[in-house]
Amino acid sequence: MNVQIFNTREQLARGFCDFLVHDTRNILQHSKQYSLALSGGSTPINVFRMLAEEYRTRIPWDCIHFYWGDERCVPPDHPESNYGSARVILFDQLHISDDHIHRIKGEAEPEAEAAHYGSLLTQMLPAGNHFPVFDLVMLGMGDDGHTASIFPDRPDLLTSNYNCAVALHPDTGQKRITITGGVILEARAIVILVSGTSKREMLESILQEKEFALRFPAAILGRSPSARWFCDRDASPGKQYA
Ligand code: 6PG
Repeated sequence: MNVQIFNTREQLARGFCDFLVHDTRNILQHSKQYSLALSGGSTPINVFRMLAEEYRTRIPWDCIHFYWGDERCVPPDHPESNYGSARVILFDQLHISDDHIHRIKGEAEPEAEAAHYGSLLTQMLPAGNHFPVFDLVMLGMGDDGHTASIFPDRPDLLTSNYNCAVALHPDTGQKRITITGGVILEARAIVILVSGTSKREMLESILQEKEFALRFPAAILGRSPSARWFCDRDASPGKQYA
């Protein structure tokens, strides 16, 4: 697995920002648009803030179309909305045009919105072998080994024929809409950001390819040749990994 360990959370965020600079430059040499699926939760917040504050002029923001890997089924102004966080910290600061922001409507009826967003991805993104192709899917990882909103109790979402599905957070019961494993694996690039001591046990088990950990969604998707793990020392104090 392709693993980069950064000494601090700040260096982790910078590692992603620099990756985005290079990847957008590379893709936009032969394409007019760059499609980026954002992850949710707290880890990306540092990244969004750094992009807005320090990468305003280093990335061609008007060529990027923003999507989400998952969304909580809450209104866009709800504190738990993944779109809501990105709107305030990133889009408003960089004056991103609304027609470049393709949010999952957390306030809509979940099954209908999962179908709608799945159709949007087919309509907006190039077709891959079986699923629409993102240029980059940004992911996080929960301490239970979930990623996007593909939780360990829903392995069917790793092999679904649909682009999107409705999932339930196993602890809170909160409904989520998520892209499926097929869409993630079809992406040109995947970056999994893992930060903090709460992730250490799960991350070490996955990166050391412990048998029991191999069934977790983050482990399965993180083994893709397109995947890169960006981790900080709090999450992975151990030795470097190949
Ligand atoms: C979400 C995410 C989810 C997240 C992990 C890690 O909507 O919550 O997409 O997969 O990336 O749960 O969350 P933290 O970054 O908050 O630890």
